[in-house]
Formats: sequence, structure tokens, C-alpha cells
Amino acid sequence: LLTLLLILSAFSLAGCDEDTTTNVGKLEFKNPLQIPPILEPRTDSEGKKHFTLTMQSGSTEFLEGKQTPTWGINGSYLGPTLRVSRGDQVSFDVINQLNETSTLHWHGMRLPAVMDGGPHQMIEAGATWEPHWTIEQPAATTWYHPHLHGKTAQHVYRGLAGLFIVEDEESKKLPSEYGVNDIPMIIQDKLIKGDGSFNENMSMTPFGLLGNQILVNGTYDPYLEITASQVRFRLLNGSNARAYNIGFSDNRSFYLLGNDAGLLPEPVLLDRLLLSPGERTEIVVEFEPGEETILHSFAGKDGIENGEFDLVKMIADTSLSASSPLPNHLTAEPLIDVPENVKVRKFELTTKSAINGKEMDMNRIDEVIPAGAREIWEITNKGWDHNFHIHDAAFTVMDKNGELPPLYERGRKDTVFIPNGTTVRLAVDFGSYPDPDTPYMYHCHLLYHEDSGMMGQFVIVEPGTESQVSKELSKGS
Ligand code: C2O
Ligand code: CU
Repeated sequence: LLTLLLILSAFSLAGCDEDTTTNVGKLEFKNPLQIPPILEPRTDSEGKKHFTLTMQSGSTEFLEGKQTPTWGINGSYLGPTLRVSRGDQVSFDVINQLNETSTLHWHGMRLPAVMDGGPHQMIEAGATWEPHWTIEQPAATTWYHPHLHGKTAQHVYRGLAGLFIVEDEESKKLPSEYGVNDIPMIIQDKLIKGDGSFNENMSMTPFGLLGNQILVNGTYDPYLEITASQVRFRLLNGSNARAYNIGFSDNRSFYLLGNDAGLLPEPVLLDRLLLSPGERTEIVVEFEPGEETILHSFAGKDGIENGEFDLVKMIADTSLSASSPLPNHLTAEPLIDVPENVKVRKFELTTKSAINGKEMDMNRIDEVIPAGAREIWEITNKGWDHNFHIHDAAFTVMDKNGELPPLYERGRKDTVFIPNGTTVRLAVDFGSYPDPDTPYMYHCHLLYHEDSGMMGQFVIVEPGTESQVSKELSKGS
């Protein structure tokens, strides 16, 4: 009976509840799109780059004349963009000036587990956390956000998130002038109450909170002035649960350059792509002088794809700076494939907040993986829409229900959409920092699902020592 009720409520939210599916009122594109500032590091005598990130509370005016209590990093909402190059050594002071414990996770980074910022690397109120590592991965648009178990949805929703861009020689050949022809877009849905405060009802639908006011980089009702004939956009779905069917109001096509974990071998021409929570994509759009178009999310299937929203109006100047043609080959980085007879691990998702029937347990190790392994992870979804993210890993989607994935899901990824009734097979490239005592996470990136237990833990160990690893963590963190 409970299942039936849940199904009915899912239908009503998909079908009838106007409030969760369209922009409130009509957008007027009144506000210039804000661009998160680049945080310049302090570089020490050894060339190491030091960044200071302060998690703090504040207040932000999204809707005219209304103050919304928010959280941010080095500001009142969202955080600065970090930009580093492959090979850089980075170190951080992450200062928690909030009144409660949080964490800061580097989503998409390949790094030792103790630096990952997952649920075990807690930063208490008033404390500073100092992770450091060397950037050893191809160019990608990654991001950072809190990951405190049970509180991730609330902490991200209040505004703790930012972009972390990795560049390399290949990515620098693409449009890279930040804020000019290389524009970040952090897309998030909100529910802002009459008094300006956020509705924080994380369990309002079976998927979590679905809002009807869309913020891009924390800007409500935004427009963007285009000054170059070719512009690269880095899109991040930083929403708690909503997926976006991205395209343009005039149905123009655009080039897909890369996905979560790096560039594609070649640009791919598309006119739509689906972005579920946590996923990133890099696209290039061509503009004619004086034209206007709207970046739009088109209504898709019921569930987390049901929204129809204008995102940003783009207005091209009457004269545009010329751009050099896109390279035919974007990267020589090989796609991730797996040898024959490779280990296959199977995972099942349902309407329960669990993976393979088990709720997340901070003290239980679910999987033990040899350093540097390539494996097939086969994930079957028999319940609501979900997606799946693996820390410290990159993967290629081999197939979805036995067929090649859509073009926009090719290449290197770290998060994949798995709608109800779908089985995906992922060719996964795991990290190579053994540490039997500190787990990484895999989970649904619908934050309410993750918080309620749809998450598991794995450790990376020296190859050959798998059987010696204890499946229980004795220490608390
Ligand atoms: Cu974006 Cu485990 O998270
Ligand atoms: Cu889920």
C-alpha cells in the first residue's frame, strides 16, 4: 500500500503539480548572469598552489527585494572557481565558519581517500581541514561540495558548491578565456518562500526537493551578453534532484566537447543533452552577431526530467570577436575499456534508500578493490529514477539496457543517469592510492536518496591484499 501511495504521489508531482514543473511566472531575463570569480592561489617557492576556502553563512538577494539566508564559500552563495593544471601540486585551508560540522568533497578528483572530503573527513565548526594532493588526471570540469552523511542535501542546497577546473595542454587549445568565451553555468532549482527563505523540505517528492525557480550561478532570471562567435559553456547540474533536458529555444545544434571526467576524442554535434544531478558537460555554441537564443530545459519523461524551464537568455553583440575553428581531435587520452574476463560487480537500486538492499553504514566496507583495477560495474535500477556516482574513478558507459548509450553519454564520466527500468554497464578505471582504512563512496547523486542511505563504501588496496582487509572500520573517522 505504501508503495502504491508513493507511486500515486510521484504521478501527481509529474503530471498535475504546476509548481514543481515550470518557471514561476514568466522570466524577463532581467539580471546579468553572475560568473563565479576565479580564486587565485598563493604559489610557494616549490611551486605548490595554496587555496583558502571559507565556508560561511550569509544572505543573498535572488528575488528583487527579498533576502534569502544562504551559505557560501568565500561569499554568501556558492564558491569561487578553482582552476589548476595537470601536474600541479595543490593544498587547501578549508575553514568551517558555520555553526555545524560539514565536509568538502572534490567530486571528480583522483586523489587519496583521506583527501577526498567524503563523510569521514569531517570538519567541525570552527576547524580547518588541510588536504593536499597532486593533480594527476586529464583536463575536466570537476566540482566541490559538502558530503556530510545525512546532511549533504541541505548543505549543498543552502549554497555550498563550486567549480574546480583541471586544464591540460589539450584543453587549453579550446576557448579558455574565463568569463568571456569559457563560461561556467551551475544550474540549480530552488523553492523560495514568500518571505525570501528557502523551502528546505528535502523529502517533498520521492526524489527529494524539486524546485521551480532556477538559478544559474546563483542568478535568478539571467541573461548573458555574448561577445565571441564561439563560446564554450561548462554546465554543472548542481541541483538536489532535478534533471535537465538541455537545448536551445531555436533548436540550434552545438558541439559536445567533453563530459564529467574529460574531453571526448572528437567534438560531437547535438541539439539536446540530459544532465542529471552531479553531471557536467562542456559544449561549444556558435553565435551570429545580434542574435538571441535561450538556453532551455525541455520537458522530458515523468520523474526528475519533468520540468520545462528557461535557463539563460543569450544576447549576441552586434560585433563578435572571431574564433579559431575547433580542433578535429580534442584529446589523445584513450577511452576507458576493460580487458576480457574482468571482474564484474553487480548493484541493484530500488525504491528503497539502499544499494543491494543495504543502507549506508559508515562502519561497513562494502567493496574491496585492488589499486589501479579496471572492472565492470553493472547497475540495475528497479525503482524511482536514480543516478550513480563513483568517487576517485572515471568510467565509460558500455551500454544501457544492452544498447550503446546516447551520444551525450559517451566518453569519460564519473556520474551516470539510470532511469527506472534500466541496467547500465560501466567500464570503470579505479584509483591507485591504496588505503585499507579509509573508504571512498559510491552513491545515487539525488542528494535526498544519498542522505537516506543509497550509498556504499569501497577501499582501494595493494593488489593481492584484498582478502586481508577488514570489512569493518573500527575508527570513527
Ligand atoms: Cu558529488 Cu559523493 O559526490
Ligand atoms: Cu536515487
